[in-house]
Formats: sequence, structure tokens, C-alpha cells
Amino acid sequence: MTGKHIVIGITGGIAAYKTMFLIRLFKSSGCEVRVVATRSALQFVTPLTIETLSQNKLYSDLFDPTEHRDVQHISMADWADCVVVAPATANIIGKYACGIADDALSTMLLACQKPIFIAPAMNDKMFAEPTVQHNIELLRQKGCHIIAPTSGFLACGTSGNGRMEEPENIFTIINQYFAAQQRFSGRKVMITAGPTYEPIDPVRFIGNHSSGLMGFSLAEAAAEQGAEVTLITGPTSLTTRHPNIQRVDVTTAEQMYQQCMAVVESQDIMIMSAAVADYTPAEVAPEKIKKNCDNLELHLTKTKDILASIGKIKRPTQTLVGFALETEHEIENAQKKLHNKNADVIVLNSLRTKGAGFRTATNKVIMLTKAGDAFESELKSKADIAKDILNLIYKLNSHE
Ligand code: CTP
Repeated sequence: MTGKHIVIGITGGIAAYKTMFLIRLFKSSGCEVRVVATRSALQFVTPLTIETLSQNKLYSDLFDPTEHRDVQHISMADWADCVVVAPATANIIGKYACGIADDALSTMLLACQKPIFIAPAMNDKMFAEPTVQHNIELLRQKGCHIIAPTSGFLACGTSGNGRMEEPENIFTIINQYFAAQQRFSGRKVMITAGPTYEPIDPVRFIGNHSSGLMGFSLAEAAAEQGAEVTLITGPTSLTTRHPNIQRVDVTTAEQMYQQCMAVVESQDIMIMSAAVADYTPAEVAPEKIKKNCDNLELHLTKTKDILASIGKIKRPTQTLVGFALETEHEIENAQKKLHNKNADVIVLNSLRTKGAGFRTATNKVIMLTKAGDAFESELKSKADIAKDILNLIYKLNSHE
């Protein structure tokens, strides 16, 4: 952590007093710290405390006349190696999620393209409120790292889930983030994502409900950890942020197969999270099919199994990860896929779990390895599941 530039954003919650310990933790590990505080935050902690601990001038007034030579919210965002907003109130979460910039902190956040960590702290009912949860999800999708609050005694006298994570734990999360940042540096990772669309005629296709979020989360996480990522994706509305991600858009299973085969040779890690169609219409009607018969039969042929094809040609130094979506005999079927497709890991999704699988922001998986180990996750965001998958791949590779 020595020499890292940390910007700490403080908003108006009682947990602001704990953020003073966070400043000390960063300072004593050799970081430089600059603080941006909202007016409400300064009801809880004083500028003198903040400036004494951070050994830097506090920034809280967007129009501070003494700072006229420097556009502070821009220069601070550029200076930062990362930004930590702790405590983050429902207000700042909502403002940043919606792109509102009406004070020093919210303006700096919008100008910031560095990793941003958000540690919410509020009453448990406020935290559970759907708008707050929706805004947190928007921040997650922007690529923010959410440091979930914990359960316990709250300042309002009740007990519940809304306490800001302890400063020591926030410090550890950020420390681990920096440590992990370069661990896939120089490694090439190919990821497939999304559904495929198999055309029936010029206006219709056979598709599925995959949103692509799991694959995109994997791509962002791998790129953040230093990997050079090729993301081969079927149709999706998702966008990528990281400059290390090279995105290749395809529509059909055959196109996905061709694009994968074109790059697989040079890859170190291949993660096949796409929901590839297993069958495709044998012929695509050149014109729109009219409804002039009672029954319509479509003749379908099998697509190429991309995962199995790569399993056949992969070198021992390459790591191959597949997914399995099962509705019955889950573990047994996933183990068969692991073996038959020569994968190193199979990530098993069950459609039976509420909040997991297609069209959800969360997932719950079991990761099965070739060595016979099984790791079961809790229900958590796809961004966090992506990190778990990369952790496992990292561990498997470092044991070799
Ligand atoms: N897969 C693939 N190419 C296909 C079909 C699937 O690469 N044509 C990959 C998926 O990306 C996933 C894994 O195979 O990583 C398993 O997908 P899944 O749909 O669970 O299994 P299938 O092999 O299609 O078998 P089944 O549908 O019979 O369960």
C-alpha cells in the first residue's frame, strides 16, 4: 500500500467518527490520504480532526475561493488510486447512481474513473428499501465495489443490517484489492457471454433468457486483475468499461464457435459462460414464414459444442472453465460435463435457487474441480461470484 493515493469521501452518518480510524490505518500503512466531506459529514466530525489525521487540507466546498488555481474535484479524481466513500448515506448513493453532482463529493465521484469503494451505513429499514437497493445495484453495474454493511446495534437504538463495515475490514478489503490487481497481469483470458440467436427466418430466431451479466462481470473482474480479456458475446444490452477488454459481438452459435477457435490457441484461461443454443434451424427461410398452415415443423440440427471442442485441443497449461445449468441431478450432471468436456472447473447454476440463474443480478453456484473438490457460494452479486471464480482459477494455477 505504500505510496498509494487514497481519497476518502465522508458523508453525514454517525459512522463518520469511525472513518477517522480508517484514515489512520491508511496513513500508517504509508498511503497518502485526501478527504472530501459533505456539509452533513462535518456535523459529525470536524475539519481539524480530518486535517490532523490526513495531514492534508480537507476539501468540502465546491466553490472554495482559495482553491481557484486548481479544479479540485477533477484534480482529486485524477490523483486518486482509489476512492472510498465511508460512510455512504442513502443520499450519496442515490445521487451518484443518478448522476447528480451538487457538491464537492458528488462532483468528484462523477469525474472519477478510478476504482470506487462504497461502504453504506444507514438504518436497516432504509437500507432494505427497494429504491436504495436499486441504486446500490446501479452502482455495482457501474463497476463500484460495494462493501456491504453488517448487522448489529444501530445509532437509532435498534438493531439490524445497516452498520458500516468496521474500518479494519474496509482497510483489508482495499489492501486485498490492490494485492489482487496484478495477479493476472500478462495473462490472456477468453470469456464467452450472453445467449446466441439462431435465425428461423429474417424476423424470428430461437434464443434464451441469458442477459450476459455473469460473463460481463467475469470480464470486468479479470481485466481489473490485470488480464488481457477477449469477451466473445452474443446479443446483449450490456456495455464494457475496462480498456483491457476486447469485445467481439456475435449472434449465432456457429459465429461464437468461429471467433473462439480463432483466438483460443493464444489464451491462458478460457471461461465459457455463454448460454449457447444446442440446436439451430437446419435452414433459414429466406422470407418471413407466413401462417398458412396449422402446424409448423422446424427441422433443427445440433450446434458445435464450443466448450467440448476446446476441451479436446487444450494444452495442459491452459485452464478451461465451463458452466452447467441444471434442473435435476445437478451435481451428477455437472460432474459428467466436467469429465466429458475435459474442463478444469465446472460452475454449476441451479434454476431451483431463488435469485440465481438467468435475468437476476445475483447468483449462487457450486464450483466443481477436476481434482474432485466442490466449493459452494452463498447467494451474492454476479460481480462477487466472478471474483470467487477468478480466485479459484488463481489458486489452481498457483498450485501447479
Ligand atoms: N456450451 C458450449 N457450446 C454449446 C453448448 C454449451 O460451449 N453448443 C457450453 C456452455 O457455455 C457451458 C457448458 O457448455 O459452459 C454447459 O452448457 P449447458 O447448457 O449446461 O449444457 P449442454 O452441454 O448444452 O448440455 P445439456 O443442455 O444437455 O445439459
